[in-house]
Amino acid sequence: MAERTGPVAVIGTGSIGRAVTRRLLDAGRPVVVWNRSPDPVAELVRRGARSAGSVAEAVAAGDPAFFALPDPTVVRDCLRRVREDLAGRTVVVLCTGTPSEARLTAEHAAALGARCLQAGIQASAAQIFAGAATLLYSGSAAGLGEHRTVLEALGRARFVGETAEAAALWDLALFGLWYDAQLGLLRALAAARDAGVDLDAFAETAQAQLGHVVSGVPATLREVRTGEHPPGPADLGQHLEVVRRLVAFRTGTVLGDGGLADVAALLADLVQRGHGSEGITATTAR
Ligand SMILES: NC(=O)c1ccc[n+]([C@@H]2O[C@H](COP(=O)([O-])OP(=O)(O)OC[C@H]3O[C@@H](n4cnc5c(N)ncnc54)[C@H](OP(=O)(O)O)[C@@H]3O)[C@@H](O)[C@H]2O)c1
Repeated sequence: MAERTGPVAVIGTGSIGRAVTRRLLDAGRPVVVWNRSPDPVAELVRRGARSAGSVAEAVAAGDPAFFALPDPTVVRDCLRRVREDLAGRTVVVLCTGTPSEARLTAEHAAALGARCLQAGIQASAAQIFAGAATLLYSGSAAGLGEHRTVLEALGRARFVGETAEAAALWDLALFGLWYDAQLGLLRALAAARDAGVDLDAFAETAQAQLGHVVSGVPATLREVRTGEHPPGPADLGQHLEVVRRLVAFRTGTVLGDGGLADVAALLADLVQRGHGSEGITATTAR
């Protein structure tokens, strides 16, 4: 397929849109930008971008058209301002949203005739600017194939499925993993600090504990996939006792129990239904 060299559109020049624009300009690609407020655009125009007077004008001038906006509602508001037929053109949605929001946005793009790629941004603006991001895409495989050069200028372009919602699912599941781990670490460090514990020694032990989770990923994956839940170091009955005490330990703390009261209820139910000798991965059984 012939490599495209024409202008790309970027709608929204906040952190992500600015990084995308600067990265593409540095790669020698013409970029047409639109932003709600003028100041961020002025800086990009000084760097070589062209300013469009409206969303519709930017989308008409550039393919693909990146929508780097705070949430899917704003993306859909902007898509409603486009009147022309976008047949054969590609819309790339760069924002965090739920799978059902992604589906709705893709329907709006399809109504205009456009192909739609939804991106999961597992990266910072600085990584995009450095071309070192990993971006997850789902939706139109044809759109990705046609614009691979542009997408790969931003970093690794990982296609995760042809449904509109696949990238959002990956994105939110991975953000959830990060929040769970990071907030767990913060709860532990805050508890140690408030108790006057030697924080250096504690942090070293906490890092080792997190390392066990990381090195255990293949075994955990195997159990989630096969539905077999061997007890490992502790069975569900023993986990229940620890989790109940953790809920009591965390009660009244600023970050709360992190949902462990619900986990205790689930564990109690599993034990009552005869699963007490299984391992912690039994909490994912369907
Ligand atoms: N920044 C990151 O490192 C990062 C990482 C992962 C995911 N994300 C996701 O990427 C998306 C974009 O993030 P960002 O950091 O670029 O956000 P941002 O810096 O806050 O920029 C938001 C952009 O949206 C525009 N905007 C806001 N409300 C609007 C409206 N009602 N109509 C039209 N334009 C509007 C803003 O325009 P004005 O200049 O006029 O305010 C600005 O250009 C978000 O969904 C975010 O969760 C960001």
